[in-house]
Amino acid sequence: MKYSLLFAFAALGLAQPRNANYDESKVPPYTLPDPLIFQNGARVKTPADWVKRRAEILRLFETEVYGRTPGGRPKGMTFELASIDRNALAGKAVRKEVTVFFTGKKSGPRMDILIYLPRQSRGPAPIFLGLNFNGNHAVNAEPGIHLNTNWMRNNPRAGVENNRATGKSRGSAASRWPIDEILARGYGLATIYYGDLDPDFDDGFQNGVQPLFYKPGQTRPAPDEWGSIGAWAWGLSRAMDYLETDRDVDAKRVAVMGHSRLGKTSLWAGAQDQRFAIVISNDSGAGGAALSKRIFGETARHLNTSFPHWFCDRFNKYNDNEAALPMDQHMLIAAIAPRPVYITSAQEDQWADPLGEFLAARHAGPVYRLLGKEDLGDAPMPAIHQPIMKTIGYHIRAGKHDVTEYDWQRWMDFADKHWGKK
Ligand code: GCU
Repeated sequence: MKYSLLFAFAALGLAQPRNANYDESKVPPYTLPDPLIFQNGARVKTPADWVKRRAEILRLFETEVYGRTPGGRPKGMTFELASIDRNALAGKAVRKEVTVFFTGKKSGPRMDILIYLPRQSRGPAPIFLGLNFNGNHAVNAEPGIHLNTNWMRNNPRAGVENNRATGKSRGSAASRWPIDEILARGYGLATIYYGDLDPDFDDGFQNGVQPLFYKPGQTRPAPDEWGSIGAWAWGLSRAMDYLETDRDVDAKRVAVMGHSRLGKTSLWAGAQDQRFAIVISNDSGAGGAALSKRIFGETARHLNTSFPHWFCDRFNKYNDNEAALPMDQHMLIAAIAPRPVYITSAQEDQWADPLGEFLAARHAGPVYRLLGKEDLGDAPMPAIHQPIMKTIGYHIRAGKHDVTEYDWQRWMDFADKHWGKK
């Protein structure tokens, strides 16, 4: 299905906001904070300095944007192989479902990881890991995949009614997950329904994983504690905890990818958790790869109004006040250095500000250079379908806000390049 902007707003009962700026000449003058200058004004001169500056940057994003996340693997968390088919996809794949019980209790919150691995693979397979919008069963129509029963945004065309998936939703998102092609290129795929971690509506954080971490008497996250994006990113790290135990997976070669709100999430997950060897963010826009201070397309106020549960409460203070942000999104990308990061945009997705996404990738460059890696230099924004693949990568493709085969092919080229495959 197409999770378009219009659909997102329609589903939320909102009109597409008219008060967005799409005029480049109205972008205000702005100054980007220098990722290589500490908050006290000292300069980052060495890779060792950068380790400290990175910690400072992550703290800024925690306290001002996404909220703090409880650290590390929860005590008692268990994994259970829920199903395995060694002959999936007409013999091309091994398909597994693994349930992660966050507290170890079967009655407690859990997530289901769907994993496809190339059957021909000699040795552990490198994989792409990404959250999905409509349940694992929407990623491929194979009937053996467990039908998700959690809350889901209504979409009758894609088989989601009364906020629950129906059988009709099987395979409805398959165009976004070209599994055959992924397997043919020697990669595996692991995916999780994002609503297993926190259903995507504002319920004051009573459902989802946040309540697991409330202190006695606490009923919602503090103003600088995680919102939904934080919870989704946390789930990706818990998936990584599992992948590190799976002998069929090369846990040193896991690329975390995400689209749109889940592309904001893949960046935040990749910035925090250095086990992700490659980070990919597609059409992630405001609060993702796009520079906030450009005020082009979606803004902090739009985000905090339509989706009050995504960010931490403190992020509200930047509504109509992006100039006051002590960071911008180029610093989130920089926090991924020296690992490869690939930012991708779509031409018709002006709401997500493609130029702002490109510029953030470019302005992360000085950190990559300091660490001896190749950045985008001062290259201008490339034309449609002209990917640049350094340690930082970028492309813009024709078309709408979506995930397409073109995107996947380039992500795999990028992984081939960095992981040394022909
Ligand atoms: C809306 C929202 C974006 C988000 C997108 C999506 O358009 O405004 O911030 O990226 O939904 O997740 O599809």
